Amino acid sequence: MNSILERYLISDQVCIITGGAGLLGKKHAEAVLAGNGIPVLLDISDEALQKAQKELCERYPEAKIECFKADITKEEELVAIRETLLDRYGHIDILINNAANNPKMEEKSANLGNIRFDNFPMDIWMGDIAVGLTGAFLCSKVFGKAMEDQKKGVILNISSDLGIIAPDQRIYRKDGVKEEDQTIKPVTYSVIKHGLLGLTKYLATYWANKNIRVNAICPAGVENGQNEEFMKKLTNLVPMGRMANVEEYQCTVLYMISEASSYMTGSTVIIDGGRTCW
Ligand SMILES: NC(=O)c1ccc[n+]([C@@H]2O[C@H](COP(=O)([O-])OP(=O)(O)OC[C@H]3O[C@@H](n4cnc5c(N)ncnc54)[C@H](O)[C@@H]3O)[C@@H](O)[C@H]2O)c1
Repeated sequence: MNSILERYLISDQVCIITGGAGLLGKKHAEAVLAGNGIPVLLDISDEALQKAQKELCERYPEAKIECFKADITKEEELVAIRETLLDRYGHIDILINNAANNPKMEEKSANLGNIRFDNFPMDIWMGDIAVGLTGAFLCSKVFGKAMEDQKKGVILNISSDLGIIAPDQRIYRKDGVKEEDQTIKPVTYSVIKHGLLGLTKYLATYWANKNIRVNAICPAGVENGQNEEFMKKLTNLVPMGRMANVEEYQCTVLYMISEASSYMTGSTVIIDGGRTCW
């Protein structure tokens, strides 16, 4: 067996990261590069993808970094990427299901606003589920096929603390705003993040005899320029009294996609400053 530190290396392993050009996707890519792996960023945003590629190439000039503009809700696009990667490398080792329509406090997200549950629009429901759940299902299906053929692979699903607990809608409230105009976290976020834990357990057991491990992490909110009032309300719910730093999930990600976690499958690792204990 390799030494303890060597077991964290994923040298020359091909690691697909969906939503790879987003805030956390880029950080997962850095974790892959730190382990000597080859990150493959899939993202629907061409602009974000180009920016991410530039940033990563500047920081890791020697590294192989693959970027594909792709909509993970389109199976045929995923199949084409799988075939390209298999032609180029002969193997696909790791999949991180990370993409989601992530409702953000600091930006005006389409699915975060005065959308009450009783008038939640069908198109937002369908759009969120398509990316967060169907996308993870399709990527697992398409890239998992290569892993099945190789009899080797690792899948990591990015859930959330809101895959464990319900959102506390009080932290999004603003004084003096009418009830029907208050911002709430959308129902889709809870459904998707809980659903990913179901997908994790299903696939972990389904593929256990194919040497494919499937796990999930539940990260909590990352500090990223949110307003002070919101931060205060949120951090009050966190025993450690703060949000996460954007780099605080990287070591866990590398642990979970490498041999370091070789006996772990079907597990959910919560990284939330203690929030779900309260
Ligand atoms: N940021 C946080 O505080 C936080 C906390 C807990 C969990 N998470 C989870 O971590 C993951 C990443 O979050 P983030 O903050 O980096 O979000 P982000 O919005 O910055 O990144 C998501 C990326 O997914 C891409 N994407 C959207 N639809 C796509 C599609 N159909 N096909 C391909 N790519 C698509 C977007 O273009 C974007 O680059 C999400 O699943 C989120 O729910 C984030």
